[in-house]
Amino acid sequence: MGKNIILLGAPGAGKGTHATFLKEKYQIPHISTGDILRSHLGRATELGKKAKSYMESGQLVPDQLVIDMVADRLKERDVQNGFILDGFPRTVEQAKALDQILSDLKININFAFDFDASEDVIVERLSGRRSCPKCGAVYHVRNIPPKKQGICDKCGAALTQRKDDEEATVRKRLEVYRKQTAPLIDFYTKRNLLHKLDANLNVETLQKELAKRLASG
Ligand code: AP5
Repeated sequence: MGKNIILLGAPGAGKGTHATFLKEKYQIPHISTGDILRSHLGRATELGKKAKSYMESGQLVPDQLVIDMVADRLKERDVQNGFILDGFPRTVEQAKALDQILSDLKININFAFDFDASEDVIVERLSGRRSCPKCGAVYHVRNIPPKKQGICDKCGAALTQRKDDEEATVRKRLEVYRKQTAPLIDFYTKRNLLHKLDANLNVETLQKELAKRLASG
């Protein structure tokens, strides 16, 4: 079966970290709407300018902007052997639009993983997250530290903290998640695609669980 995968879960639950693992293990592209939007922000494109205030305040960027962005990305050739959607869809509107996009491309989703982590774990993970502005690698000051403090193992750049990881913004993002994104758990359960994961577990255990489910799916 193809590996066309959706990763659902609250901010900081570990979607990006495990998307990187899946990308390397199965050699399929990792499509993170958050990363694509941050790249637009960094380059100050028209889309970046439109998305900036939403992202910095922890709100969702309007559906249509993100839907168009994903529709374009899914037309690229590298998705033919599978893909990982990380952070999309995030509203029922986006999930319905994705159904249409995939139906036009004659592609099916095979797995939707829900990373379910407690609020305490989420706050701890986001407050300790550090990312590489150059290559995108993600670390955690205690859980997944770089070899040299503050420096990316992969490319040597100085690590930074995401602006939306400040406590007040994290709380807003969690509220938005509960209201707008959590209903997707039901959406994909009804389609028999949902796999719940205990995202409080450590990275190694979660990687094994993901590989097991993907092998048996
Ligand atoms: P986005 O970038 O998608 O952020 P998010 O969903 O809030 O998710 P995060 O990236 O914060 O968390 P993650 O689950 O990937 O956790 P990670 O693996 O890094 O979106 C940002 C913004 O963009 C949104 O607020 C919105 O404005 C906009 N946006 C994006 N998509 C959109 C859409 N579809 N529609 C509208 N707007 C959109 O892990 C977190 C930390 O924990 C790391 O430090 C990591 O090292 C550590 N860690 C991970 N797993 C473990 C583990 N198992 N054990 C210990 N530590 C762990």
